[in-house]
Amino acid sequence: MVFEFVFVVVVLGLINYGLYRFLYYSWEEGKPLQYKNVDKLNGKTVLITGANCGLGKATAYDLADRGARVILACRDRERAEAAAEDIKRGTGNEDVSVVILDLSDLDSVKAAADAVLEKYDRLDILINNAGIGLNDEKVTKQGFDMIFGTNHLGHYLFTQLLLDLLKKSAPSRIINVSSEALWAVWGKLDYQPISEDGTTKFPKLQGYPISKLANYYHAMALAEELNGTRVTANAIHPGMVKTQIANRVCANKLKVFLNKIFSGLSTMFGRSAKYGCQTIVYMAVDPTLVSVTGKYFANMKYAPERLSKLARDKEEWDKLSKFSYEMCQDYLPAKPSVDKDTTIEKMEGRKDDKPEMKAESLSIKQIIEMKPEEIRPFSLETCVEESEGESPSASLNKPRAEFIVAKEDPVFPPSPLDEPIWKPVVAN
Ligand SMILES: NC(=O)c1ccc[n+]([C@@H]2O[C@H](COP(=O)([O-])OP(=O)(O)OC[C@H]3O[C@@H](n4cnc5c(N)ncnc54)[C@H](OP(=O)(O)O)[C@@H]3O)[C@@H](O)[C@H]2O)c1
Repeated sequence: MVFEFVFVVVVLGLINYGLYRFLYYSWEEGKPLQYKNVDKLNGKTVLITGANCGLGKATAYDLADRGARVILACRDRERAEAAAEDIKRGTGNEDVSVVILDLSDLDSVKAAADAVLEKYDRLDILINNAGIGLNDEKVTKQGFDMIFGTNHLGHYLFTQLLLDLLKKSAPSRIINVSSEALWAVWGKLDYQPISEDGTTKFPKLQGYPISKLANYYHAMALAEELNGTRVTANAIHPGMVKTQIANRVCANKLKVFLNKIFSGLSTMFGRSAKYGCQTIVYMAVDPTLVSVTGKYFANMKYAPERLSKLARDKEEWDKLSKFSYEMCQDYLPAKPSVDKDTTIEKMEGRKDDKPEMKAESLSIKQIIEMKPEEIRPFSLETCVEESEGESPSASLNKPRAEFIVAKEDPVFPPSPLDEPIWKPVVAN
């Protein structure tokens, strides 16, 4: 009898505690946020995917209000034009335009990127925001799971196609809108190309949490790929926001029921899109973040502690990156071949007030063989890029890596969130 009583008390206690944590979490995640900085973005070009409603539209409004040229990349022209008109009317900024982009169709993604490259000469901020959580269509035009294909693969290709423009406009920023839902992925992503019903190419890459984990991995892989280019890539979680994401039409009753719970909670506790977009705006605008890359932010704060163990697994980012490249290869330009015997100048320095610089010649073959921590400041692409400028290495009149400019550039200081990445010079 006593045992049963204690058992019931413990179980009820645990249920109450769980409920309390859950409601407290929802309340915390839904508190209004306000980014106080009023910096203008005149002269900057921003592109936001899925900007006809919800977080995307609220972000577009805020950035247009700061004077940026804003491009809304949306799948439905009518809805997108209506949003552009609203934003123009509300902010007085006439430089708001629309590009048609359906992320569930890689042909449309390629066409949208081509349109951007043709029409705009710079891109300072790319915000990969569009997303679905509920859908009736099972697969994308190219046969990937609809949610994974839209939320991740479409954004992967779009970003790859715009990288040169972002590099040309550097310092520039890529912001991936991920979600705390990434915690709901238990096992590593399974890339087995087995079709269960003859339609989905990769049946284990399904559902919202996997797509949001992929948004995070994508940002991390980009940060690494773009090291030394002054293009940053970060992922964010916007909190719990009252939008349409959980209210879309879907025939699957169970999914609709689960989404109704989320929708009910976000109606009760969630912040409006105007407050929900503040973390995205912060990442796009804040001057202290100019060189911060490869990081996860939530509620306007650097939040590595909010990542799951699986999210922190670097091998998984690399796997997804390789997979995504292979799946989109037909739409991407061939990678430039590099003469591995090209000799470049290598410079090392220390992260302090008076960095000591040292130059030596290395072939690309030697660089490839270096340990990862040694090659961190290099990427094959930046190694072969020749540039002339005011940096100390210019006088040496040799090809040099972009990262050396970054080190000397006051506009792109070392990230305040990083450990020093510049190794002390090893004299030999
Ligand atoms: N709301 C939250 O609490 C919350 C929490 C964490 C993360 N997020 C993330 O925030 C982002 C924005 O979501 P939201 O809450 O603002 O939802 P939303 O109001 O439903 O907006 C989603 C946007 O994505 C667009 N979209 C959907 N499929 C598309 C496609 N195939 N091609 C191009 N655009 C497409 C939608 O366009 P249509 O109007 O044409 O469908 C819409 O503009 C998503 O990535 C979501 O995962 C939201």
